[in-house]
Amino acid sequence: MDFTGKVAVVTGGGNGIGRATSAAFARHGAKVVVVDRDAAGAQATAGIIRQNGGDAAAVTADVTKAADVKAYVTAAIETYGRIDCFFNNAGIEGKVAPTAEYEEAVFDAVIGVNLKGVFLGLRHVLPEMIRQGSGAVVNTASIAGLVGTPGMPAYVASKHAVIGLTKAAAGEVARHGIRVNAVCPGPVDTRMIHALEEQLAPGNAASVAERYQAAIPSGRYTTAEEIANMVLFLCSDLASNTTGGQFVVDGGRTATPGAVTNLIAR
Ligand SMILES: NC(=O)c1ccc[n+]([C@@H]2O[C@H](COP(=O)([O-])OP(=O)(O)OC[C@H]3O[C@@H](n4cnc5c(N)ncnc54)[C@H](O)[C@@H]3O)[C@@H](O)[C@H]2O)c1
Repeated sequence: MDFTGKVAVVTGGGNGIGRATSAAFARHGAKVVVVDRDAAGAQATAGIIRQNGGDAAAVTADVTKAADVKAYVTAAIETYGRIDCFFNNAGIEGKVAPTAEYEEAVFDAVIGVNLKGVFLGLRHVLPEMIRQGSGAVVNTASIAGLVGTPGMPAYVASKHAVIGLTKAAAGEVARHGIRVNAVCPGPVDTRMIHALEEQLAPGNAASVAERYQAAIPSGRYTTAEEIANMVLFLCSDLASNTTGGQFVVDGGRTATPGAVTNLIAR
């Protein structure tokens, strides 16, 4: 997988999966635009890339705001001239609560980042790729986009919707030489999964971590680097006729229905 001369834009690049994927793109030769609402996180990722001899720019942006999205696209074009790969990844987990009790404001916040943020990214990056006549997009869905996770209604709805957006966009731009796929991670060892563990068992996150990992056939959380590997593959020429798909990286969890944990059952 050689990304020499290519430009990758990564949202949510200031932490977790986005940081690991930004670093992986850079290791394989890409120039990387690291986008995050957390300015320090984005700067830190760009700094790690530069320390390792790569080329990266950090852009502070909130993916829910169209003006910010336009600004990160403009920054990428002004800095590096094009966008070859777009990892549309920023997301939040929201609160764990049943639908019957879910706070409307939290629902709106989760849909705002996970669905509208992904839509706005496509809305403003795809025109650049159409102009170029090439490009590869990976949207971050989740296994929560494939199966229900009781206790996370907004998150599950947003991730199912990301898969729908992926399929619609893929069909629209395929003849422009652009591919659009979704990656569906299972639980990944990042801040997000540890925040969920803490919500479920305040002060005793380790017990949830143990139970979750025992329910995964491989026996452990996926690493952010393992998600990055799938994203790079999907953005590479090795995946040259792969579009509109959803690619699970979950240690076998969704293949084993009994392993789907009910988050509300204690
Ligand atoms: N960790 C998991 O278990 C897991 C599993 C499946 C899918 N995912 C998805 O992977 C993606 C990355 O999650 P992660 O695990 O790396 O979490 P993370 O919290 O470590 O990283 C998410 C990053 O997104 C940024 N972000 C959040 N809202 C933003 C906004 N409005 N604008 C710009 N940046 C914003 C955060 O600042 C953070 O740097 C998310 O879409 C998440 O839903 C994670």
